[in-house]
Amino acid sequence: MRSMLAFAAAAALAAVPHASAGEVEVLHWWTSGGEARSVQSLKDMLAGQGHQWRDFAVAGGAGGEAMAALRSRVLAGRAPAAAQINGTALQEWGRMKVLANLDDVAREQQWDVRLVPLIAQAMKVDGHYVAAPVNVHRINWLWINRALLDRVGGRTPQTWDQFFALADRLQKAGFIALAHGGQPWQDFTTFETVALGVGGAEFYRRALVRLEPAALKSDTMARVLATFRRLKAYTDAKAPGRDWSAATGMVVRGEAGMQLMGDWAKGEFIAAGKQPVRDFICASAPGSDRAYSFTVDSFAMFRLNDAVAVQAQTALARTIMDPRFQETFNLNKGSIPAGLGVEMGRFDHCAQESSAYFVASSMIGTLVPSVAHKMALPERTAARLRDVVSRFWNHDATSVDDTMAALLHAARE
Ligand code: GAL
Repeated sequence: MRSMLAFAAAAALAAVPHASAGEVEVLHWWTSGGEARSVQSLKDMLAGQGHQWRDFAVAGGAGGEAMAALRSRVLAGRAPAAAQINGTALQEWGRMKVLANLDDVAREQQWDVRLVPLIAQAMKVDGHYVAAPVNVHRINWLWINRALLDRVGGRTPQTWDQFFALADRLQKAGFIALAHGGQPWQDFTTFETVALGVGGAEFYRRALVRLEPAALKSDTMARVLATFRRLKAYTDAKAPGRDWSAATGMVVRGEAGMQLMGDWAKGEFIAAGKQPVRDFICASAPGSDRAYSFTVDSFAMFRLNDAVAVQAQTALARTIMDPRFQETFNLNKGSIPAGLGVEMGRFDHCAQESSAYFVASSMIGTLVPSVAHKMALPERTAARLRDVVSRFWNHDATSVDDTMAALLHAARE
């Protein structure tokens, strides 16, 4: 991976920039209903300034396919002007010196003041801005169909015991209790949420961020894995391979009762005309109401030579940090603005809660970076852990002990 990226970097530098005057080609993976609505607002605002958006959308939740497409385009010497690149991958691309320096626009719009240090730092490589953040997504959410909850006389679960009791009721009433998409990144997302809910923020950090052997192989990890495995009995036989938005759709339509997923799921409820409280419930995943695992979506710009193309690129970065854009985009996306000082009055209570919890959790030390969504580990390490987790999820005969040993091994490699 590293040598391939290094080669990709060299190819990008040698490349003739792939952008014409006033046009920005933008790689992203936002193709579901809610995601497409959100990205449309960016396209519209850019068009309003006379720049053209060339869409380079690569479907696939969490961007695995999009990142593969980005690597091959850069390798072919045809880097897009901008790409959605999140978390640790920004550092990897940035170190290869293929990304543009956004310090001027950052100074002009006072990004250092308008971003909390945690996010500002994530957008910088060697002290220079290389990306503009659009949002903060909270991962540790549980989504519940309100009508089904009422129908089985259930209450929003706060503990895992309550969760399984509700899941039993839903199942007995003939519903799929838990909508899941069996793709490795979704297995991994669910796993990290269970780890946070069962083990708490400090355990999560020790095991999944610092990869401490004593945490990866511990009684707590054994309980995490056992809880994670228990979930599977509440999913349906068609879960393997299912897209996350299809799983959310099952909860939207009342075919399934619940889904554990980041708040991009809310974008699907909203796109379907549903309202929180009335139609669906957003709750902290069991055991994790005091904690917050987050990811930040951001756009990096690739270095270009053409002055007009650079102008269009700069306009994109400036638009992203425009409070009006941050408001409209996040109302559709399910996330909260990355920039401070955005009017929150039009946001629903899920977003208001997310915003308050983001601040509160950072103050009490329970704000943790999402491992499944690229915020904590280099991609190659995360990928090895993800494989171990999916193997455990898919093969019921794989034991908890063997899986802890495999996690240890994956973390050490
Ligand atoms: C996340 C990303 C979200 C959403 C989700 C599903 O990694 O942060 O914006 O797109 O994947 O694709």
